[in-house]
Amino acid sequence: MLNLKLPWKWKECGLNSSGKKMAKIFVQVVVILCLGWWWWAIMVDAENLKYKDPKQPVSVRVKDLLGRMTLEEKIGQMVQIDRSVANATVMKNYFIGSVLSGGGSVPLPDARAQDWVDMINDFQKGSLSSRLGIPMIYGIDAVHGHNNVYNATVFPHNVGLGATRNPDLLRRIGAATALEVRATGISYTFAPCLAVCRDPRWGRCYESYSEDPKLVQNMTEIIIGLQGEPPANYRKGIPYVGGTKKVIACAKHFVGDGGTTHGINENNTVIDRHGLLGIHMPAYLDSIIKGVSSVMVSYSSWNGVKMHANRDLITRFLKGTLKFKGFVISDWEGLDRITSTPHSNYTYSVQAAISAGIDMVMVPYKYAEFIDDLKLLVKNNVVPMDRIDDAVARILSVKFTMGLFESPLGDYSLVNELGSQAHRDLARDAVRQSLVLLKNGKNDSDPLLPLSKKAPKILVVGTHADNLGYQCGGWTIAWQGFSGNNATRGTTILAAIKSTVDPSTEVVFREDPDSDFVKSNGFSYAIVVIGEAPYAETGGDSTTLTMLDPGPSIIKNVCESVKCVVVVISGRPIVMEPYISSMDALVAAWLPGTEGLGVTDALYGDHGFSGKLPRTWFKSVDQLPMNFGDRHYDPLFPLGFGLTTGSVKDIVARSTSAGTRGTPSFIAMIVATIAVCVLQVHF
Ligand SMILES: *[C@@H]1O[C@H](CO)[C@@H](O)[C@H](O)[C@H]1NC(C)=O
Ligand SMILES: *[C@@H]1O[C@H](CO)[C@@H](O)[C@H](O)[C@H]1NC(C)=O
Ligand SMILES: *[C@@H]1O[C@H](CO)[C@@H](O)[C@H](O)[C@H]1NC(C)=O
Ligand SMILES: *[C@@H]1O[C@H](CO)[C@@H](O)[C@H](O)[C@H]1NC(C)=O
Ligand SMILES: *[C@@H]1O[C@H](CO)[C@@H](O)[C@H](O)[C@H]1NC(C)=O
Ligand SMILES: *[C@@H]1O[C@H](CO)[C@@H](O)[C@H](O)[C@H]1NC(C)=O
Ligand SMILES: *[C@@H]1O[C@H](CO)[C@@H](O)[C@H](O)[C@H]1NC(C)=O
Repeated sequence: MLNLKLPWKWKECGLNSSGKKMAKIFVQVVVILCLGWWWWAIMVDAENLKYKDPKQPVSVRVKDLLGRMTLEEKIGQMVQIDRSVANATVMKNYFIGSVLSGGGSVPLPDARAQDWVDMINDFQKGSLSSRLGIPMIYGIDAVHGHNNVYNATVFPHNVGLGATRNPDLLRRIGAATALEVRATGISYTFAPCLAVCRDPRWGRCYESYSEDPKLVQNMTEIIIGLQGEPPANYRKGIPYVGGTKKVIACAKHFVGDGGTTHGINENNTVIDRHGLLGIHMPAYLDSIIKGVSSVMVSYSSWNGVKMHANRDLITRFLKGTLKFKGFVISDWEGLDRITSTPHSNYTYSVQAAISAGIDMVMVPYKYAEFIDDLKLLVKNNVVPMDRIDDAVARILSVKFTMGLFESPLGDYSLVNELGSQAHRDLARDAVRQSLVLLKNGKNDSDPLLPLSKKAPKILVVGTHADNLGYQCGGWTIAWQGFSGNNATRGTTILAAIKSTVDPSTEVVFREDPDSDFVKSNGFSYAIVVIGEAPYAETGGDSTTLTMLDPGPSIIKNVCESVKCVVVVISGRPIVMEPYISSMDALVAAWLPGTEGLGVTDALYGDHGFSGKLPRTWFKSVDQLPMNFGDRHYDPLFPLGFGLTTGSVKDIVARSTSAGTRGTPSFIAMIVATIAVCVLQVHF
């Protein structure tokens, strides 16, 4: 703009020495004036930069900013890198648009909320110091609460939430999760998973709310909790994020992730278009209407075509037919996996994915290679510039909509939201509602539940009774989950039992007692907690669906000698048919998370059981896949099954109020009779 090297030589102008001095002063004055004008011009320009003006409509800001961006700056916006390769310099020099934590990728072990904010603000300052100062968004898999973070509230996994069938609860969980995520300075979660799991052999089945597409549609209410409710006059289908206590949500994995052959993770979903649209697509439409801001593409294929390269479904259907206006993000190294040997032809992968309509790429490590490849593809007109502009405009729209340019930094005043008591109470309520009572008593007239709090001596057994990691499942602290009680804070089922029963009750815990011990101790009843060990993604694919050993022998040893309730901790139905006749009661607790008291609330009758199976419970694995509506439907328990019990308190209240109204109906009389029986038996 201003060339400070003077282009002439004094001598050639033929000036004497005083003339030289005059000329020098003149030139200096001119230079200073020019500098001043230049500076003033920049300041005025800065004030007039439309993209920085929050009063301008989002579309105007996007257009203005896009018009100022170089190709490098545009491509940078499309890149998401893992925190382990990010720093302020990288953010600035490569114009990186987004950073993520992969499962278990944390700033330091047992990091506090403040540590997260420190790290993220440092990256953000790098982004803000780039030429145009475009802030980045930080994403994480907060898929059952803010599960990567020490001390966070861990909610039940989606299969358990599906059992509640309670959209309002989902909305409140979304809002609590958003606050915990923001407490760590993060503004984007890769949730909810809208998979319709059609085969429990799939390792991600617990991330699915149900095998029933309608139930999955209803559960999209969590998006309103995460992002906020769009105002009444807001245009339907436009991405919405309601400010600094809300986060960007992500409907995933588009599409057909839950329909793969034999439930093999990332495999091929073989189904006709009618089936795909009827089973796997509906929840995406609900999400778009609710303003979801991003959609993640599935690793899986549809009829042999990798979803990451499927232009028909991503561009024509999602962006065209469904009018999705947010951004489409790839899965972790999703581009690499377009070729059957991952990363074997990366340039081709980049071309295929960007042409298919992916806007942001979870690279997450080799960002320089991605940037170089895409730059070359654009320069060679393989990928048209308007495809890049479409991608960047979508990303920027979300950033403007959420107010990121106005509030780019994490807010330390929110740190106490992480794992707050209010959120733990909500999670406990969610656990209670998620429990499905499958059996209660060897015959109907002799229920075991609710249990007595005043029994003199009780037995608690099983691999899962005192293991917080098992209770939370995969995607907790580490990608594959953890075992034990010290990797985060919460209440195990054993601890919950101890704090629920009367102080006079002796609680004996043995993980795997021999049958003589069980027989010879005069236990009033036993609580057996068994199930699956934690897993995530492909690590959870299973052809056998058996419980963790020695679960079956524990059930046998205990249930043959003492009245027992079996609580199953699992991400899906598992083989249960051979053992069920020996049990007095059976409860499916799914993967309840950190709040074990939700389980005892129902076992001890402080709250009733109300959950309904979100999935068909098979008799044997050779029936699979088997979903409701199938011709040869022969389940152990059908979709929607679940016994109910009133809470002891409710039963008493109902019988009392019926009595005081003086018009005891027939039903009230029955309820009162049951209440009296329950009270006599258990108190
Ligand atoms: C940031 O990361 C880059 C690339 O790994 C590295 O070269 C650079 O030294 C790092 N800068 C700082 C300040 O750590
Ligand atoms: C975890 O939460 C407890 C209770 O609020 C608190 O005392 C502790 O400092 C927290 N730890 C971390 C690492 O945040
Ligand atoms: C979904 O919600 C609607 C409206 O509340 C309700 O009528 C329907 O029964 C729900 N469906 C399922 C499968 O939960
Ligand atoms: C599906 O799984 C089979 C067996 O592991 C494998 O050979 C095939 O390549 C997979 N297909 C896809 C599309 O991933
Ligand atoms: C990469 O893929 C492209 C497009 O299919 C193909 O033309 C090219 O030969 C491939 N390169 C390699 C090294 O396989
Ligand atoms: C149900 O159980 C009660 C108590 O164990 C027993 O007395 C009764 O005979 C049983 N009824 C049936 C139908 O088995
Ligand atoms: C947590 O438990 C594991 C396994 O029992 C142990 O190796 C680790 O040192 C413990 N960590 C802390 C912080 O106590």
